[in-house]
Amino acid sequence: MRLTEKVRKAINDQINAEMWSSNLYLSMSMFLKHEGYDGFSAWMMMQSQEELGHAYEMADFVNKRGGKVEITKVDAVPTTFDGPLDIFEKAYEHECKVTELIEGVVKVASEERDMATQDFFWKFVREQVEEEDSASQIVSDIKLAGDLHISLIDHSIMERRRSDKK
Ligand SMILES: [Fe+2]
Ligand SMILES: [Fe+2]
Repeated sequence: MRLTEKVRKAINDQINAEMWSSNLYLSMSMFLKHEGYDGFSAWMMMQSQEELGHAYEMADFVNKRGGKVEITKVDAVPTTFDGPLDIFEKAYEHECKVTELIEGVVKVASEERDMATQDFFWKFVREQVEEEDSASQIVSDIKLAGDLHISLIDHSIMERRRSDKK
């Protein structure tokens, strides 16, 4: 079954949102790098790559279903932040918003009785649980560490990121 126009449009919008997320995290990564937080910066860079990967995966899905992907203008992302806590709080809030967007795509696919799209997007619904959790864990760690110990969190973040992926 080919994608209905409603489903194609919903996924196309989500592809655009993933690219915006990728740019947001790249911007956060560059800010953190400039401030000397190499661990946080590397974490955000990996997030940025992951979001771009989501956009590619979704585009591939649309292609396979006979739909056309339209890459549109991606809105500008913020470039200045108040530091690591502000950044990770914003990243957590953003992931919560993304969860709603992904759920919206599943809803449209369900209304259109498109089983394959629902199945494909449930994977992203599940992934959002991890996405929200990992950002919120870092928020708590930064709060607990306080300004004095924040560099310890920055240093340990790469290791934790690696073990999260196992
Ligand atoms: Fe994503
Ligand atoms: Fe994400």
